[in-house]
Amino acid sequence: MSVYIIEGGVPLQGEIAVHGAKNAALPVLAAALLPPESHILACPSLTDTAAAMDILRALGCRVTREQEGVTVDTSSAQQWEVPERFMREMRSSIIFLGAILARFGRARVSFPGGCELGPRPIDLHLAALEKMGTVIQEDHGCLDCTVPQGRLHGAEIFLALPSVGATQNVMIAASTALGRTILHGAAKEPEIDDLAAFLRGAGARIYTNSAGSMVIDGVEQLHSVTHRVMPDRIAAATYLCCAAAAGGNIVVRDCVPGHLQAVLPCLEQAGCRIQRYGDAVGLRSQGQLHSFGWVRTMPYPGFPTDVQAPLMAVATLAKGTTVFTETIFENRFRHADELRRMGANIRTEGRVAIITGAEQLHSASVVCTDLRGGAALCIAALAAQGQSRVAEIRHIERGYEHLDQSLRSLGANITRSRDEKEEETHAEQNYIQDSPAQTDQAAADAAQKTGPEEAPA
Ligand code: EPZ
Repeated sequence: MSVYIIEGGVPLQGEIAVHGAKNAALPVLAAALLPPESHILACPSLTDTAAAMDILRALGCRVTREQEGVTVDTSSAQQWEVPERFMREMRSSIIFLGAILARFGRARVSFPGGCELGPRPIDLHLAALEKMGTVIQEDHGCLDCTVPQGRLHGAEIFLALPSVGATQNVMIAASTALGRTILHGAAKEPEIDDLAAFLRGAGARIYTNSAGSMVIDGVEQLHSVTHRVMPDRIAAATYLCCAAAAGGNIVVRDCVPGHLQAVLPCLEQAGCRIQRYGDAVGLRSQGQLHSFGWVRTMPYPGFPTDVQAPLMAVATLAKGTTVFTETIFENRFRHADELRRMGANIRTEGRVAIITGAEQLHSASVVCTDLRGGAALCIAALAAQGQSRVAEIRHIERGYEHLDQSLRSLGANITRSRDEKEEETHAEQNYIQDSPAQTDQAAADAAQKTGPEEAPA
């Protein structure tokens, strides 16, 4: 395993381009099981996308990564069972269920289990797929799913809450189901629009009716498609938080300022000077930051829960008191303990965190608890005086493409070094070695490890 060593107190200067969005690429990779061939441009190189590519290979697809993106060839896909270790490696792998059922009429996946953020129920996913004709039986922690009629059928579905993953599972499953699906209460995150663009590009018929509900008219078969993944709005927000905390003057390019409409006002209230361009955001942070009141995480277009931890790191340096309410996940303050080790003044009570800004943070040895919490530790370390050590950065590498290189390009003093104590997971090996030369070997390895079926053609 590896660690980051960060020498704090260095203001950031320069420009940084945002990579493709993890939370758009993952559902697009799942949906890529349906067309004969998909070319996915700007697919970020992350351990989570490497894990998703492993799952596609285990299903018999040929997956290759070239310079400009990832190609998924499903002509040899014949497996409908996802090996348990892949389901455990990435909690959001449940997103493959709708695609596997749509392709094969059968699926066997294990419960994705909880994660660092608390229990991650999938009841909305399963209820929707059952309404579309799936019979689901739990069997020793696995979900054995069959579609007795062979093909899913359309249904009118009401989501009790705007679950991003459940919305995506329904969109993918409904795209080739028999008849019409009407989805009420769908999530409205930009990543949903990006998945809809991919599916439409492959011939799916998806639109929004006058009542604001999503309507999907199933087609017989999706055709090959080329799609460019949207920029990662969470990564863009994270880089801005780095400069807000460490000070300096940066421009975050290749992003969509409109996706940050709930985040930028907080940074402006904190005292940063923000400039919005067509596809970029500039931030200048000088002198003392100020507290920015009360931040409640909400479904889009509200404040994104994934930016709560990065912005909390900024709040630890903002004069006065800032309050966060985490309304989406029940256990998303685990980074607070680690931030306290750096001198942060944070009190948490259930889903509320109260931050009183400190004059200065000091360096410390800290451990990442989850993806966005890990980013928060890096942000704090960039601002703290002295050298910090951030361990368990495997969490960070799930969702940020070479964060250390990106920050070094802005002048940060950050290096990545190995921590011999722990070995890498399979996805991490892929991530580190993921290159065209390796891809076929990884496919053969993955196919070999997943059971008797033939390696992809
Ligand atoms: C997606 O997770 C993102 N992950 C998350 O990003 C993000 O935080 C989340 O959406 C909210 O925006 C990916 O896209 C891969 P949900 P997802 O279903 O789909 C409850 C990151 O850091 N719920 O919208 O799992 C659930 O417990 C990650 O990049 C049910 O009760 O989120 C949660 O409280 C973290 N039953 C709420 O809904 C269900 O069947 C939102 O979950 C499904 C969800």
